[in-house]
Amino acid sequence: MKNIYLLGSMNTDLVMRAPYLPAAGETLAGDGFFCARGGKGANQAVAAARSGAKVFMCGCVGGDAFGKETLSALQREGVDVTNVRTVKDASTGTAMILLIEGNNRILLDRGANGCVTKEDIDLFLKNARQGDLFLTQLENPLEVVAYALQKAKERGMYVILNPAPADRAALSCLKYCDLLIPNETETEILGGTETLSQAFWGELIVTLGEKGYLLRDGEGERIYPCEKVKVVDTTAAGDTFCGALAARLAAGRNTREAARYASLAASLACTKKGAQPSIPTEREVAAFFPQA
Ligand code: RIB
Repeated sequence: MKNIYLLGSMNTDLVMRAPYLPAAGETLAGDGFFCARGGKGANQAVAAARSGAKVFMCGCVGGDAFGKETLSALQREGVDVTNVRTVKDASTGTAMILLIEGNNRILLDRGANGCVTKEDIDLFLKNARQGDLFLTQLENPLEVVAYALQKAKERGMYVILNPAPADRAALSCLKYCDLLIPNETETEILGGTETLSQAFWGELIVTLGEKGYLLRDGEGERIYPCEKVKVVDTTAAGDTFCGALAARLAAGRNTREAARYASLAASLACTKKGAQPSIPTEREVAAFFPQA
């Protein structure tokens, strides 16, 4: 079993349902407000841990109550938070999420997530072994993410990038990645499937929402459908996919097998509201999809 080293964001999600996106100057009645633990990094760490992996997390939280809650929530999941630094004068990352017909629109103040440094990365990767997995996204400063990708590659780790939220500047980091997992929107921002396929030679998985996912590996390219479920909230479905996939890879499965399981876990995450509250355990995936 390999370890997963995860650099990423940790946020508090403030969520509300809305009938539509309010226009400038408009006040609109929403409902169903709730607050949940989120952040693409933390969501992926929780997804991997709930799928049985040993996860080491690196990032920053603020010196506020949300920061403390974030740390204890991750510890309860068994995630190692030794390399999560508390930045006293910063606020913990906050995401305001509007749920409109099951789909989400997110406005993010990255707060302490912007404080991660290259020194944090050096300390974090010190004990990583060749063959361990490195997983990250783009909610931390890009220059630090790029540095981490390069260092992870130099250590002989299997490097996975979920380029979310998409940033074309990240194209220069693709040379350090073994596996890239964008969604459709991120793929477009990065230049479209064709351009991306040419710019990046590693394994590619494009998540396609209710249409499933496209997987390109050494044996070719194919679209795989996903299981149909009653969608309540898609928040963190992509994060669940990335974390669950990494957990299966860490357990020695190949990318196709890992992606099949990740797709089931992500579908199940869509049936509950909230980011981390919706992420299933391995046992829940097996119970809901006996074919898993
Ligand atoms: O991918 C979903 C996540 O994006 C939310 O939990 C929110 O915090 C933002 O980071």
